[in-house]
Amino acid sequence: MSKPFQAIRGMNDILPGESAQWQRLEATVREVLAAYGYGEIRLPLVEKTELFTRSIGEVTDIVEKEMYTFADRNGDSLTLRPEGTAGCARACLEHGLLHHQTQRLWYAGPMFRYEKPQKGRYRQFHQIGVEAYGMAGPDIDAELIALTARLWRRLGIRDVTLQLNSLGSSAARAAYRERLVAYFTARRAELDEDSQRRLTTNPLRILDSKNSALRGVLADAPALLDHLDPEAQTHFDELRALLDAAGIVYEINPRLVRGLDYYSKTVFEWVTDALGAQGTICAGGRYDGLLEQLGGPATPGVGFAMGLERLVALLATTDPSAAESAANPHVYLIRVGDAAQRDGLALAERLRDQLPELRLRMHCGGGGFKAQFRRADHSGAHYALILGDDEMASGRVALKPLRAAQGEQITLPREQVAVHLRAVLDLTA
Ligand code: HAM
Repeated sequence: MSKPFQAIRGMNDILPGESAQWQRLEATVREVLAAYGYGEIRLPLVEKTELFTRSIGEVTDIVEKEMYTFADRNGDSLTLRPEGTAGCARACLEHGLLHHQTQRLWYAGPMFRYEKPQKGRYRQFHQIGVEAYGMAGPDIDAELIALTARLWRRLGIRDVTLQLNSLGSSAARAAYRERLVAYFTARRAELDEDSQRRLTTNPLRILDSKNSALRGVLADAPALLDHLDPEAQTHFDELRALLDAAGIVYEINPRLVRGLDYYSKTVFEWVTDALGAQGTICAGGRYDGLLEQLGGPATPGVGFAMGLERLVALLATTDPSAAESAANPHVYLIRVGDAAQRDGLALAERLRDQLPELRLRMHCGGGGFKAQFRRADHSGAHYALILGDDEMASGRVALKPLRAAQGEQITLPREQVAVHLRAVLDLTA
C-alpha cells in the first residue's frame, strides 16, 4: 500500500480537539470588535500580485521570497494573500467605502507565506486583522491599542508587552535612511552577510536583525526616534499621553521597524516570552500613504493583525482544559435494543427542540451497554441518558451521572427529561 497523503509542509489541519480553543478565541475577538463598532469585511484569498508588490514593498522579505505567486490560465500573475491590509484597502477603494467617511473594519482568515516553518511560524497561518480609515489623529491609534489590551484581559492573557515606535513621515524616514546608510557603510565590516545586502535594499531592516554579533554596531546606530519630523513627533507624543491616561503600559523600542514598507508614524507589536522565538502575537501601525499609493485619494489608515496560531498556543499555556471541556457533550444517549434505537432518536430530536443549548451526543453504530458506556465516558459527557429494554417496558428513561459528586442514577418519565436536564445543567432555554 502506498503512503497516505500528507498536508503540505507548514500548512496545518486544526483538529476537533483543538477547534474549541479556536472558536472561543474567535468568539471573544468578535465580541470585543463589535463592542468597539468594527464591522466585518470578507475578502478573497487571491489578489493580483502587483497589489502586494506595490503595497508591502518590492524589497521586503515577504515580496522577495515568501509569496505564493502563480500565473492563472489567462497568464495573469496572482498571489495567495500574504496579509490582509492590502486587500482590505483595495476593496475599500473599489467599493467607494472611503468617500467622505471613516471606516472601522476587521477580517479573519488564512494568509500564506513561504517561510521556513518552525514553532509559531507556518506557511498557511490565520490572522484576524483590523483596519481603520479616514482618521489622522493619534486617538484612533490609541483606541486600537486599547482594544487589543482589552482583548488580552478578556482572554486571560498576561505577560504580554506592548512595544511602540514611530517611523516618522516618509520624507523624514528617507533623510534618516541616508544617515543610517552612511553609518553602516563606515562599519560595513562588522555587518553580517544579510545586513550587508540590506544596506542597499532595505537598510532600516538591519535594525531589526536578531544576530547577537551585531549588538555593538546596532547599539551605536542613529535612532529613528531622534530624527522624526515635527508632525510625527507630535503624533507620537499625543499617542503616548493617551496611552498613559488610559493606563496602558508600553515600552519604546526604537529598533521596531516592521517588515512591511507601508508604515509611517506609529508602529507597535505585542510580544510574549512564553512562545519561544516567534513571540509576536499581534502587530501593526499607521499607513497614511498606502491608499494613495494604490491609486485612491489620500486617506489615513491604521491597523493591526494578530496571529491566531500563536494566540491559541498562548491560551493553551494559560488554561489548557477550559475550552475543551466547554465543547464536551452534556448528555450521551445510550440506546440498546431495536425499539430503543427507534424511540431514542425521536427522544433526542424532541430534547433538541426543547433545549436548543443542549449538547447531546447520540450513540450510533450499535453495541451493548458496556461498549456504549465506554464511549459515553470517553466523550467527557456529564450524564448518560439510557434507553434499554427495562426503560422501554416502563416508559421511563434512566439518567446516570458520569462525574463524581453528581449524585445517583435516577429514572424519569420521558416527558420530564427536558425539565430535569434544564435544571441540572443550568440551561437557559
Ligand atoms: P505581520 O507582522 O506581518 O503584519 O503579521 C501580523 C501577525 O501575524 C504577526 O504578529 C504574527 O502573530 C502573525 N504571523 C505573521 N506571519 C506568520 C507566520 N508565518 N506564521 C504564524 N503567524 C504569523 C501584517 O500582516 C500586517 N498586515 C498587520 C497590519 C494590519 N498592519 C496594519 N494593519
